[in-house]
Amino acid sequence: MKAQVLAGNWKMFKTRAETKAFFKEIGTELATTKIRKIVAPSPTLLETAVGAAQGTGIEIFAQNMGWAESGAFTGETSPDQLLELGVKGTLIAHSERRQYFGETDETAVKKAVLALAKGLDVIYCIGEKIEERKANQTDAVLRKQLAPVLETILPKLAAQGPAFLIAYEPVWAIGTGLTATPEQVKDTHAGIATLLKNSPVPLPILYGGSVKTDNFGGLVTLPHVNGGLVGGASLTSDSYRQLHQIFASKSGQSD
Ligand code: PGA
Repeated sequence: MKAQVLAGNWKMFKTRAETKAFFKEIGTELATTKIRKIVAPSPTLLETAVGAAQGTGIEIFAQNMGWAESGAFTGETSPDQLLELGVKGTLIAHSERRQYFGETDETAVKKAVLALAKGLDVIYCIGEKIEERKANQTDAVLRKQLAPVLETILPKLAAQGPAFLIAYEPVWAIGTGLTATPEQVKDTHAGIATLLKNSPVPLPILYGGSVKTDNFGGLVTLPHVNGGLVGGASLTSDSYRQLHQIFASKSGQSD
């Protein structure tokens, strides 16, 4: 059976009290299912989330990480600081980091290499903008974003090492209510899988961008889709639980 991952990206939402309430509401119901369950909250919530998530089966990831082990880098968080809190991994290169905070393919790869070397799992985000899709450049954009990954990260991956996951998130679908069609997701994920075919370990590919309870089932059954990176619909325990339920009910229906 293919790897299944449900990852919530909480972006800059929630207080500590809301974080505790979310995990209390989730309870232990999902704890032992085969789906890998992740939530990525803001840095100030990480410690609370790690504590509150105990027994829920949900792992806590950061949304970003600095590219140096330590040093004079105001505003950044190091891998050791994340590990000390019990954080299991990190998102890297989310399109909002690329769009608003100057993340480049170069800084992203540097961060990913360091995170993996430190034992943190990585969800590495790629995706094209609307004008790029309209100009038929999706393939070229993804190739460019993945080129340094193929060169620098893939050769370092090993079965016993930390996990490396790709999240394909078309920028025009994030937070807009516009989901890529199943046809677009199918074709794009197949293209990404082909690009990554020489990986020494299987690389799960998640879809992200306006995933909701009414479209998730149609997406996770597609070939080369191993789950979702979900923003808005991961914020309430009800919706997170429902996404999990939909995913679990589709198990075995996909490759
Ligand atoms: P969205 O966000 O589900 O709210 O569109 C997804 C993401 O940015 O990871």
